[in-house]
Amino acid sequence: MNNEIERRRTFAIVAHPDAGKTSLTEKFLLFGGQIQVAGAVKSNKIKKTATSDWMDIEKQRGISVTTSVMEFDYRDYKVNILDTPGHQDFAEDTYRTLTAVDSVIIVVDGAKGVETQTRKLMEVCRMRNTPVIIFVNKMDREAKDPFDLMDELEEELVIQVRPLTWPIESGPRFKGVYNIYEHNLNLFQPSKQVVTEKVQVDIQTKELDDRIGTALADKLRGELELIEGVYPTFNVDDYLKGEVAPVFFGSALNNFGVEELLNCFVEIAPSPRPVQAEERTVQPDESKFTGFIFKITANIDPNHRSCIAFCKVCSGKFSRNVPYYHVRHDKTMRFSSPTQFMAQRKTTVDEAWAGDIIGLPDNGTFKIGDTLTEGEHLHFRGLPSFSPEMFKYIENADPMKQKQLAKGIDQLMDEGVAQLFVNQFNGRKIIGTVGQLQFEVIQYRLEHEYNAKCRWEPLSLYKACWIESDDPAELEAFKKRKYQYMAKDREGRDVFLADSGYVLQMAQTDFKHIKFHFTSEF
Ligand code: G4P
Repeated sequence: MNNEIERRRTFAIVAHPDAGKTSLTEKFLLFGGQIQVAGAVKSNKIKKTATSDWMDIEKQRGISVTTSVMEFDYRDYKVNILDTPGHQDFAEDTYRTLTAVDSVIIVVDGAKGVETQTRKLMEVCRMRNTPVIIFVNKMDREAKDPFDLMDELEEELVIQVRPLTWPIESGPRFKGVYNIYEHNLNLFQPSKQVVTEKVQVDIQTKELDDRIGTALADKLRGELELIEGVYPTFNVDDYLKGEVAPVFFGSALNNFGVEELLNCFVEIAPSPRPVQAEERTVQPDESKFTGFIFKITANIDPNHRSCIAFCKVCSGKFSRNVPYYHVRHDKTMRFSSPTQFMAQRKTTVDEAWAGDIIGLPDNGTFKIGDTLTEGEHLHFRGLPSFSPEMFKYIENADPMKQKQLAKGIDQLMDEGVAQLFVNQFNGRKIIGTVGQLQFEVIQYRLEHEYNAKCRWEPLSLYKACWIESDDPAELEAFKKRKYQYMAKDREGRDVFLADSGYVLQMAQTDFKHIKFHFTSEF
């Protein structure tokens, strides 16, 4: 069992849209033998189109398959890549997926550097000390100076960086990357299919000059010396603690620098790590199975309730047709057709180990964060919700369908499509999202899956934050003062709806003993 768990690498590739996540995933699948040619993996991006033609069923399906899992064997390792939605409006989905991985590869566009989404994703990684490797992509295009990029990564992502490969120029002058640790040179040949050959070069010899010209050779020698002087020697433990991020350069589209990344990744990335439950820490090599649901897909076929709940196996071995305990429902369930995912196929699995992700057919029995065990009353820590950025009142647009609407909203929230708050002052339901697209998806799915109609009413809010205090009197005073802006989330926790940054700041100044949290996990 230890061997099975040790060889697993469960991770996600994340990036700001367009940085090259899809291209990099595809190249990994090529190395893993899951696909034979480049171009086989469809981007799960929703291209920016007018919303009216966006809402056809095909595109809806495009969303429903957002977080999928791709697994393959590479050398002695079993690699599980958790794919995340390409569209920013589904960022919440990505954040949740990050709770199910043991490490992360962040892709950064060499010309654009750190972008908004990269920053947010890194915040989530930092919250959980997730080990991070950075891949600077698109070096075949004019990129920023690599030293400037290093500084930018360090400053913007608030993590120490350590280059493990180093680029020789970029854009049309791009010559390749030097592998600092293996001391070899990988010369660039633009090609989507062929893996370039590496040459062992002693950088102090004339051979380097012959390969890339004296000027570049001297420059590279100088830069490598500087790197050794500036950055401490790379220490895997610092990476595993989430304190240092190794950096690689390359071009995903040209499959360049990707093999170095993958080889280093499987060697240094952590195997499944212990997972914290409310009751205790669960070790991956415990003999009994435990797992939690971190994602539920949208209904793919509206005629059959055919959702899939994604379960991360946290410990032990999961077996098909064996009864497991659903802690929240307090009942046992067995699964006759759990699935595992290949690049584009789904297969039934008989067993899965800690680190694996399995798909469980779901018709409304699961909720994000549910725990499965062999009988133990365990609760894996709730997955964090982040303060949404857009808010609307949701109203019933068809008085005959009140029940359907309530059920639809309930189930969509269980799936984690958006967050629901109930205003304590007027009892109205508020939906909070990170992007406009989520409102459209909710409306569409309520109509097509629950036969219910909703209407949105504008609500101008700056942020929703969870509040708590050790001083009950002050908390009461605050709630009284802000009674129009107090809401409850689905767990019944107090949420303050701030209508402007100024109001929030004033509240923080006036009520010193109240803590304002911007994620629900505190
Ligand atoms: P994403 O999943 O992170 O959103 O990015 P994706 O891989 O889809 O890449 C975004 C765009 O950047 C794509 O172009 C892709 O071909 C291009 N790209 C990715 N890696 C590299 C690289 O190393 N070098 C260069 N020059 N381009 C790269 P597109 O025009 O949006 O799509 P397509 O028509 O090429 O599919």
